[in-house]
Amino acid sequence: MDRFKLDDNLYTSFEEIDRQHANMFRIINMLSSMLDESGEENLSIILEELKHYAGYHFSSEEALFKNYGYSATDEHIAEHRSFAKKIESFDLELIVGTPNLGHNMLSFLEDWLKTHILTHDQKAFDEIAENNKD
Ligand SMILES: [Fe+2]
Ligand SMILES: [Fe+2]
Repeated sequence: MDRFKLDDNLYTSFEEIDRQHANMFRIINMLSSMLDESGEENLSIILEELKHYAGYHFSSEEALFKNYGYSATDEHIAEHRSFAKKIESFDLELIVGTPNLGHNMLSFLEDWLKTHILTHDQKAFDEIAENNKD
């Protein structure tokens, strides 16, 4: 059973964005089962997958914000950049062998993703949906 998932309260008004968020949770689940099964030896694979997919997801959101003229685009982009920086810092911690890195990553990712969706993504897509009602 998947430990992390896109709960009902995390939906936005954009189906494609929800699908991408579900994929972000899929990566977090991969990390969780990997830690249970084989420990931290394949952490670099998860980090690569995260960088790749989060980059894709953030670009999708940012393109929508620009297309629809979302009012807090800059602030939202700054949140995405700070996530990307954190992932880079995990990369460095992997190189220096920080203990418990996998579990630290897991709690950061779950917490960040849920908080970001609840406080930033829903706000953005609510505004966009509201301004584009016919
Ligand atoms: Fe998002
Ligand atoms: Fe976002």
